[in-house]
Amino acid sequence: MSPSAPPATAPGTWWQDAVIYQIYPRSFADSDGDGMGDLPGITARLDHLVELGADAVWLSPFYPSPQADAGYDVADYRDVDPLFGRLADFDALLARAHELGLRVIVDLVPNHSSSAHPWFAAALAAGPGSPERARYVFRDGRGPDGDEPPNGWRSVFGGGAWTRVTEADGRPGQWYLHLFDAGQPDLNWDNPEVRAEFRDILRFWLDRGVDGFRVDVAHGLVKQADLADWHYPEEPVSGEGTEGPRPPMWDQDGVHEIYRDWRQVLDGYPGERILVAEAWVQPAERLAAYVRPDEMHQAFNFEYLEAAWSAPAQYAVITRSLAATDAVGAPTTWVLSNHDVLRHASRLGLPVGTPRPRGIGIGDPQPDAVIGLRRARAATLLMLALPGSAYLYQGEELGLPEHMTLPDESRQDPTWQRTGHAERGRDGCRVPIPWQADAPSYGFGPTDASWLPQPELWAEYALDRQRGVPGSTYEMYRTALRLRRDLRLGAGTLFWLESPDEVLSFRNGEVTVLTNFGEAPVPLPDGAELLHASGPLDGDGRVPTDVTVWLRTP
Ligand code: GLC
Repeated sequence: MSPSAPPATAPGTWWQDAVIYQIYPRSFADSDGDGMGDLPGITARLDHLVELGADAVWLSPFYPSPQADAGYDVADYRDVDPLFGRLADFDALLARAHELGLRVIVDLVPNHSSSAHPWFAAALAAGPGSPERARYVFRDGRGPDGDEPPNGWRSVFGGGAWTRVTEADGRPGQWYLHLFDAGQPDLNWDNPEVRAEFRDILRFWLDRGVDGFRVDVAHGLVKQADLADWHYPEEPVSGEGTEGPRPPMWDQDGVHEIYRDWRQVLDGYPGERILVAEAWVQPAERLAAYVRPDEMHQAFNFEYLEAAWSAPAQYAVITRSLAATDAVGAPTTWVLSNHDVLRHASRLGLPVGTPRPRGIGIGDPQPDAVIGLRRARAATLLMLALPGSAYLYQGEELGLPEHMTLPDESRQDPTWQRTGHAERGRDGCRVPIPWQADAPSYGFGPTDASWLPQPELWAEYALDRQRGVPGSTYEMYRTALRLRRDLRLGAGTLFWLESPDEVLSFRNGEVTVLTNFGEAPVPLPDGAELLHASGPLDGDGRVPTDVTVWLRTP
């Protein structure tokens, strides 16, 4: 097999300022009408990314999987699930992307496999103390009959993090650890066999020509050796808390050795292949450790995603993010939405400072859609003017809101069941996206089928209703990405400018950026030329509330 070659760029550049577009394969484009997006569907629509102005694609998992967690439960790391196509479809996708000048990053899920992985079946069959069990985290239970879990860790999706197995003789046996769903047993990264296997998996995809990996739960692989109990249920095992002692299951120093090892594997390949950490780690300085020069290239900046919509909060997070990554010589990244969080067009419509809800459904307080979209557009224009690399999530270029009235019976995120229906979960940001207002499934596929129901308001957000329409969210993104590239904003440097309290303003190269978080309209600086704006100026040519402008100033 000859690997697909990436587009040519100057060395040391592409990922430092890349705009990387996340495709969630289930929900991007369905080629065969079964209601599930697929790889041929993606390939046929890659032109969209070029038109938009993205540099690269990150594909969420498409590997064989029982889909207990939408494919983040991998049963075979070296193939494609028939739901999404075949390996040949992946090769065709990669070749087409490269032909179009797009890089392709795939998702790697090393913290856990699926319980349908042959290794897990072998572990169950082989019994306690076997080398097969040593690939996972099996322990005897506590209590006289071993019927209490080995410790009190909780699953990120709700409920306990341990499940008891039935041994070959039919008796209740050991427990295995799963920080996520019971269908996602955690692998044991102290085991050299696990390490060797993943090096080989990296090579499998690198040999095919991928440009890198987004590493799922990068902060979770290594657990504190004693599996010490954890008594902070109010800050569950999500790694998002910054106060108090560090949880024994997240952000252990031992993870870094793994990424140094992987870096060497990647560096052995021609071109620039990258590693991106999905690590819910705070503060920014601890996150920066993942992107030291001999480790990963990038880490998602979730602190930025979580920051409140206010001038002081945004100023603080941007400053801190830049300083932390500068200290290790890595580019900063920016992200506002992905497949795990409430879409930012809805999130920002909640009262400022509301903690991010884990899903919204019928009967829950609903965000303000108008304010949400207005702030989302302003936030996006602010983000795309920042130096570094930016991640976009499919559909945000259409201004898509969260689907907040999904019927509960259609929910598939394991969070909904595992929390006993306390948390609605992430389905609302995963709904198949609308391409055409008047087509079946809004152009997602050739039929009406859609694995999650699409809301009627999808018609007004459809791509064909926005393309070529001045002022549409889609055209706002396109112009921003074109200017960002032409003016080299991603490779620039940020200088803060003096501004009133509720206004943020900075310079990046030739561009002055101003966001008005306050209620009073703000006049443009004298002689400023308006390059781009997230919304119309007021009748007196001033910047109204929740609007970002890009200016050229004398
Ligand atoms: C990551 C993924 C999320 C998944 C979890 C477990 O956080 O982004 O979708 O559920 O890992 O693999």
